[in-house]
Amino acid sequence: MLPKLINEILAESPVSQEVTIRGWVRTKRDMKNLVFIEVNDGSCLVGIQCTFDRGADGYQVETDVSLANLSTGAAVCITGLLVPSPATGQPVEVSAQSLEITGAAPAENREAQPEYLGIPAYPLQKKRHSMEFLREIAHLRPRTNTFGAVLRVRSRMAYAIHEYFSKRGFQYIHTPIITAGDAEGAGALFRVTTLDLDALIKDGSKHIDYTKDFFGKKTFLTVSGQLEAETCAAALSRVYTFGPTFRAENSNTTRHLAEFWMVEPEVAFADLTDNMALAEDFLKYIFTTALENCAADLKFFDSHIEKGIIDTLTQVVKSRFAHITYTDAIGELEKAVKNGTDFEFAPQWGCDLQSEHEKYLTEKTVAGPVIVTDYPKEIKAFYMKQNDDGTTVRAMDVLVPRLGEIIGGSQREDNLEKLCNRIVAMGMDVHDYSWYLDLRRYGTFPHAGFGLGFERLIQYITGMANIRDVIPYPRAVGQAEF
Ligand code: 4AD
Ligand code: MG
Repeated sequence: MLPKLINEILAESPVSQEVTIRGWVRTKRDMKNLVFIEVNDGSCLVGIQCTFDRGADGYQVETDVSLANLSTGAAVCITGLLVPSPATGQPVEVSAQSLEITGAAPAENREAQPEYLGIPAYPLQKKRHSMEFLREIAHLRPRTNTFGAVLRVRSRMAYAIHEYFSKRGFQYIHTPIITAGDAEGAGALFRVTTLDLDALIKDGSKHIDYTKDFFGKKTFLTVSGQLEAETCAAALSRVYTFGPTFRAENSNTTRHLAEFWMVEPEVAFADLTDNMALAEDFLKYIFTTALENCAADLKFFDSHIEKGIIDTLTQVVKSRFAHITYTDAIGELEKAVKNGTDFEFAPQWGCDLQSEHEKYLTEKTVAGPVIVTDYPKEIKAFYMKQNDDGTTVRAMDVLVPRLGEIIGGSQREDNLEKLCNRIVAMGMDVHDYSWYLDLRRYGTFPHAGFGLGFERLIQYITGMANIRDVIPYPRAVGQAEF
């Protein structure tokens, strides 16, 4: 049997029985006869207070020595009786009898011989640290309240995603991470190679012989599992992928990562309307799960990170997402300009929506989530279904206040000729997509799907301002520590 976690002990609350608490010290308060130790094991936001009474029968000298050495960050094992707590804000505490320090965490720099065994003071003290500083010690930040809560919400939301799809007949597909193609046709790819780059430079080779590379051709880290997911939707009807994706965009923003996780459902015999309904229902399910199952952590985010987050999520679950076409959205933005709104980039039909535009649409025009559809084909991926107007495609972006785009998706072009023409028009090689085109050659079918950026979802739920703070180890331009 695994040792009990603090949240399990709190749930069972075996008052008057002996319990053992294992975790890391958050605070120690020494009050003459009483010593209060707050221990946290990450199973829930709150820790448990362990109280040592120097005047109690059987209080040991060894315990006193250990307590003197104990400081924030130390790993401990404390045994005692669970008793009702006289303090406010906690129903129970541990009347502690024994203490074992399994690993100290010095509060001051500890010099040692040889030099490499010296230990600098434990960097997480009981005060507010900046997010920038915590990013530098990403290996220790899970021990803070904020990151503990982020990681618990992340884990629960991943589970909710699998729950949602599995209850609705979707099969979970593992699409490849190393690919030979560019699924988005956007060119922001990381190269995968075993070629010796130093040797290539020394050769002065102008043309690299990729047949000598590991896979015998150029390969990359995937930007999306969609195309492979489509092949499985062509057999299993409803599928989804949920895995890491990689983009070498030079976007140094609070909502872009070079390595992020994407959830991509793909549905056979579905059109754009079905796709929009699925995206809305899916997001509402996830938010409801967060409100119901991560209540304590959300309350923490609400009071310490972003005021009103619980209200917003509650409202969104009750609301109906607004729908607007790209053309109408541009119209709204142009109206805003006429009425004195000052955008850095003037809204213009044919150009992609900037984040300031997305912000205006979600915060001013709609004041809630909005699904923008039917974008100009030039600014969207090659696989999107073309509308009869010849200029727009059946694309949809779900935008939310504060963040902008959280989901991007579309109905897929199922007509072989139109798809081929689009690939050629975009300057891509049809031969590279031969296997993808087979889906249109053999048993083509209407289908649609979307991609949800998992980190953007977690940002939206927690209110965390920077996407680098909702993933344990962020990878972004110029950042690949740990
Ligand atoms: O809009 P995107 O590029 O769509 C696709 O990749 C499609 N293949 C999805 C599909 O239809 N199956 O990306 C989808 C979502 C975005 O809406 C955004 O939430 C997230 O992925 N995303 C990023 N998140 C963090 N960092 C980045 N660099 C991101 N790029 C996209
Ligand atoms: Mg997009």
